[in-house]
Amino acid sequence: MDEIKVFSPASVSNICCGFDVLGFAMQGLGDIITLSKTHKKGVFIKNISGFNIPLEIKNNTATVALNAFLEKLNYTHGFEISIEKNIMPGSGLGSSAACAAGSVYAANMILGEPFTLHQLVEFAMEGELISSESAPADNIASALFGGIVLVDNFKKYHVINLPAPQDVFAVIHHPLISRSTYESRNELPKNVLLKKASYQLTNIASFVHSLHTNNIDLMKRSLNDHLVQNQREFFFSYFKKIKSISYNMGSICCSISGSGPSIFSLVCDYKLAEKIKLDIDKEFVKMDIKFNSYLSTFGSQGVRVI
Ligand code: HSE
Repeated sequence: MDEIKVFSPASVSNICCGFDVLGFAMQGLGDIITLSKTHKKGVFIKNISGFNIPLEIKNNTATVALNAFLEKLNYTHGFEISIEKNIMPGSGLGSSAACAAGSVYAANMILGEPFTLHQLVEFAMEGELISSESAPADNIASALFGGIVLVDNFKKYHVINLPAPQDVFAVIHHPLISRSTYESRNELPKNVLLKKASYQLTNIASFVHSLHTNNIDLMKRSLNDHLVQNQREFFFSYFKKIKSISYNMGSICCSISGSGPSIFSLVCDYKLAEKIKLDIDKEFVKMDIKFNSYLSTFGSQGVRVI
């Protein structure tokens, strides 16, 4: 095989109660990456279409990740990459992660899978860290593993796939503004109260338990955040209104996706999810904010060959 094309999905990180450690892969939105082998050693960009991303090899999350992959493998040839960039950078939907994860996944497949998915997380993270130096692996793990993931950012990014409930759906709204993860993370407080940390431990443990037992009531109770959401809500004028519509209509969660500006709702019924999506769409129109919206399974498939 000399050429491969992959679809690398957008993702929602944090899932409200798991700052930096939880995430899920989205259905429908993703980048398309084509990788071909070259005789020449190194990584080369052939074409980038769609949203603008850096063209310099050292500043592009995909090529930085690919270089990390090649370095470890001691490969004597190289790769040429084309990216159809469909996920807007700064959307809070794992845009930089999709490129980094997709490119190393493609390289691994084209070379007969010399590395495990866990090893690919490490290479992809080298790319992700270009976009935000304190970035966790929540979006990378979501894009690579798919489903719902729990990632340990301290122990070489160990990833655990959690059970994804079949009858929960995610409604995602992306107001077409861009907010850098780097800036957003810089604005967060460096310390949290022990009491808040303790609340959050209960929430995340309960959430994981709710996925294993398919306990929707517990899931709803655990989907709360005491660490970052209060600080971040302030930047998104639309959030309070959308949150109130979403909860009033029966969602089990409405929160910020990653560091925003995108927001997501979790809903336990497909028809209701469609209705909630439509009503939130209408509210964005009323607020005169341009947006894209999506209805996804809660934990879709990860990066794949197409
Ligand atoms: N979890 C990160 C944050 C964003 O909330 O800042 C994505 O890695």
